[in-house]
Amino acid sequence: MKKKLYIKTYGCQMNVYDSARMADVLAPLGYAPSETPEDADMIVLNTCHIREKAAEKVYSELGRLRAVQEEKAARGGRTMIAVAGCVAQAEGEEMLRRAPQVDLLVGPQTYHRLPEMIARAERAGPGRGVMDTDFPEEDKFDRLPEESRPQGPAAFLSIQEGCDKFCTFCVVPYTRGAEYSRSAGQVLAEARRLVAQGTRQITLLGQNVNAYHGEALDGGAEWTLGRLARELAEIEGLERIRYTTSHPRDVDDDLIAAHRDVPQLMPFLHLPVQSGSDRILEAMNRRHTSDHYRRIVERLRAANPDIAMASDFIVGFPGESERDYGETLRLIADIGFAQAYSFMYSPRPGTPAALSEEQVPEAVKKERLAGLQQLLGEQQIAFNHRSIGARMPVLFERKGRKSGQLIGRTPYMQSVHVEAPERLLGEIVEAEISDALPNSLHGRVVTATWEGWDTIESASIRERASV
Ligand code: SAH
Ligand code: SF4
Ligand code: F3S
Repeated sequence: MKKKLYIKTYGCQMNVYDSARMADVLAPLGYAPSETPEDADMIVLNTCHIREKAAEKVYSELGRLRAVQEEKAARGGRTMIAVAGCVAQAEGEEMLRRAPQVDLLVGPQTYHRLPEMIARAERAGPGRGVMDTDFPEEDKFDRLPEESRPQGPAAFLSIQEGCDKFCTFCVVPYTRGAEYSRSAGQVLAEARRLVAQGTRQITLLGQNVNAYHGEALDGGAEWTLGRLARELAEIEGLERIRYTTSHPRDVDDDLIAAHRDVPQLMPFLHLPVQSGSDRILEAMNRRHTSDHYRRIVERLRAANPDIAMASDFIVGFPGESERDYGETLRLIADIGFAQAYSFMYSPRPGTPAALSEEQVPEAVKKERLAGLQQLLGEQQIAFNHRSIGARMPVLFERKGRKSGQLIGRTPYMQSVHVEAPERLLGEIVEAEISDALPNSLHGRVVTATWEGWDTIESASIRERASV
């Protein structure tokens, strides 16, 4: 019997990847994707625990979904609710107590076991949640079925999971478990399947993706991320390779060299630094200094002068003084970022920094965040403005809201709105950038000889950043 599945995803790209894989796990049970929760037989909330707000959102969503469940029950049906991801892992039984409407509670490392959990939940009936938040011995990736649907022109591929770094603010080592790399063979096979289904860009994912050390294909030394990128670049039809999120401690010579040698490796690097103050970096247990970060960026730019940087920042970490904050602003000014995410420090249960007695008042955090975002926003606008007039290869990923418009991405992940026919979806086409807004660009398709849309099919070009 056909059943409907609605998945709502919070948090990072790893959750986006996991959501797609959960759909793969449920497809053989007859679950097909649905656009709305109302008509779904199964609702999965794939949750994030990284900051307090992210976790609270789940409980308010559960509150809203109660009405959906009740209405279905009144019609004699049942809407099962599964909470997956990092809140499920962190809260465990506490969540089943607080939200008894939850039928299934599954962690990031156990969702391959969903079919047996569902069978148990069906037998148990509503109000008796089934939970599995183990860190199992078996490899989840060995048990997952192959992808059930094409992932589109731009796809994610998890290659590394978990984290052993234990930054003092962060829940990830507790919610995702110990660091683990998938074998090179497994990664290459998945990449080939994606490309065969039309994927042109693969973003390699990991909480610490450049700590990748996967079992080699040939039984030799473990592969690094640099080596993996070189081998992936050999796959015919794979035009763009990206990776996220990387850690400054794990940027090695091999990876820097890959940025020089591998044209498919996009010149855009998300390398979180969190703070520009050595005192705060130490208290965060990041185990590098701000100068170390500056040197890495210099070396990357020496390897490939086209490289643009993105980063993450936390303001108001316990003990952060005005002077520490000023050092973060100085680092930002020195490096110049194309894009960045910045957050107010959010104390997380079970992490060392949450116990510090030097918590920074909310009002100060807010003020510092505003200052930081002002500077980062200016840098992003300046970066986008520099694109005006440039010709850039754009990978068209989806239709725009306006008819006749496609939305694609430049090598720097900037969204570009372009008037173009639908058949160019999934193609890389050169566009001339005509306008820059803070969060997106506008452009028009260019070809050497413009003879109407018919000529454009041949205009798909190999990647080359031209700014
Ligand atoms: N593995 C990545 C980051 C994963 S979490 C790394 O090591 O950089 C994504 C971002 O969320 C982090 O870079 C950090 O900026 C932010 N973050 C994590 N924990 C946080 C907390 N407790 N409060 C505020 N921001 C946090
Ligand atoms: Fe969290 Fe630090 Fe690990 Fe990143 S490196 S996931 S911030 S503990
Ligand atoms: Fe959030 Fe878990 Fe990702 S806490 S950021 S969903 S690893």
